[in-house]
Amino acid sequence: MTYTYDYYKESADYLLKRFGGAPEIGLVLGSGLGHFASQLQDPVTVPYADIPHFLRSTAIGHAGQMIFGTVEGRKVVCMSGRFHYYEGYDFEQLSIPVRVLKLLGIRALILTNAAGAVNKSYKPGDVMVISDHIKFMGASPMRGPNVDEFGPRFFDMGSAYTPALRKLALELAEKSALTVHEGVYWFSPGPQYETPAEIRAIRVLGGDAVGMSTVTEALTASHCQLPLLALSVMTNMAAGVLPQPLTSEEVIATANAIEAPFTAYVRDIIAHIYKEVRP
Ligand code: HPA
Repeated sequence: MTYTYDYYKESADYLLKRFGGAPEIGLVLGSGLGHFASQLQDPVTVPYADIPHFLRSTAIGHAGQMIFGTVEGRKVVCMSGRFHYYEGYDFEQLSIPVRVLKLLGIRALILTNAAGAVNKSYKPGDVMVISDHIKFMGASPMRGPNVDEFGPRFFDMGSAYTPALRKLALELAEKSALTVHEGVYWFSPGPQYETPAEIRAIRVLGGDAVGMSTVTEALTASHCQLPLLALSVMTNMAAGVLPQPLTSEEVIATANAIEAPFTAYVRDIIAHIYKEVRP
């Protein structure tokens, strides 16, 4: 199915009616921030299944929902449950969530994810502000007919991860309990973790962390000129760094362990981000 501007608009108009207001900041909650939505005051929750033309979550027992509310005095909308290529979606379909968030009127997008640490100076529990990404896979969410209302056919990726927001996140890191780095995110399609040889290659080629999400959302945000901040939680050392096998239990355990300081850090970013992106 080819999406037109009107499809995204119908999804967004439906949400604006349900929310009864427009958000200023959008968040996509990855592992490590799963419970962030409980921070919102006066929350309004809309299941993805109610939203016209929206994607449906495939993960069993994981409904997927948009939650609108206030945090640090800012109106935010959280996507609780994101969509990944490994679930079977096309790259083209993965443009839908960020385009709908854009049409809600958000002025900044914050993406969070869990990632494996490729850079050996990073430790599990550290955070990485994404400065750039590498996706050596021949697909793009912007493939197919261009939707001109969002942006041009060919578009720049030179400052997709908005420099002013990266600077803000690194400044706020100094008063956070977290160790925060800045580095390059390598997109891995999954669902398998990487091989040790792949991780050695990624390290040589300039990747600091590896993960299975975020990049389609970043490309979509860049196409529609949405200011973007993306944060990776290092949930594990990448394949081959340590002798033991990688498990999703390890990923989830580290994400849960860091949830409290990471939530505090993201709250602080929300409290300060609006001055960078207000109209
Ligand atoms: N590789 C890919 N994705 C991940 C990892 C990893 O090591 N950890 C968490 N998400």
